[in-house]
Amino acid sequence: KRTVVLISGRGSNMTALIAAAADPTYPAEIVGVISDRANAAGLAIAAARGIPTKVIVRADYASKEAHDGAIDAALVGFGAEIVALAGYMRILGARFVEKWLGRMVNIHPALLPAFKGLDTHARALRAGMRIHGCTVHFVTQDMDDGPIIAQAAVPVMVGDNEDTLAARVLKAEHRLYPLALGLVAEGKARMEKGHTVLAHFAD
Ligand code: GRF
Repeated sequence: KRTVVLISGRGSNMTALIAAAADPTYPAEIVGVISDRANAAGLAIAAARGIPTKVIVRADYASKEAHDGAIDAALVGFGAEIVALAGYMRILGARFVEKWLGRMVNIHPALLPAFKGLDTHARALRAGMRIHGCTVHFVTQDMDDGPIIAQAAVPVMVGDNEDTLAARVLKAEHRLYPLALGLVAEGKARMEKGHTVLAHFAD
C-alpha cells in the first residue's frame, strides 16, 4: 500500500518505516514524506534514501483548513493510500481527519489511554508508573484517542530520568510502528464502527 509519512522533526520513526519497507515482502511502500517544518531533520534522511519530500508550512496558508487542504492535495499527488503520522506536531482538522478516517495512523509515546498529549515520559515518571510504552492507533477527531492497533510496553527502571525512559520507549516505537503499519497495509487491522478489528493469527 502506498504510504506517506508526515513528520515535524527528527524522523526516527519515519526512518524505521522506510527501513522496514525496504524489504520487498513488506506490505507498505513509503512513497513520500511531508513535513510542516522546513528544518525537520527527517527530510534529509528521507531524501538520502531516495524518498520524495515536500515541505508544507502553516505560515504559507491563510487558514488551518487551507494548510490541511495543501497537505491533502500533496497526499493525493503521491497517490497515498495510507497516511502515517510520525512525530507530526500539528492537530489535523475535522474535514481532513474524516477524509482519511481508517487510513491514517499515529504513534504516541505512551500506553494509551494513559498520558495523551505532550511530555508523556515526565508524566509517567511523576505518576510512579512501573511500566510505560507506546501505542499505534487510528487517527480520529480527538487527539490520541483513536482505536488502538498495537502497543509495546517497557519497564520503568529505578533511577530512570525523562531521557533514559524516552530512549527505551523510542526503541520500542521503532519496532512497533513497522509492525502496526504492516497490519494495516495487509488489512489485518481495520477500523470499523470506531473500533479496531484485528485478524486472528491463531489459525
Ligand atoms: C516519537 O516519540 C513519537 O512517538 C512522538 O513524537 C516522537 C517523534 O520522534 N509522536 P521521531 O521524529 O519519530 O524521531
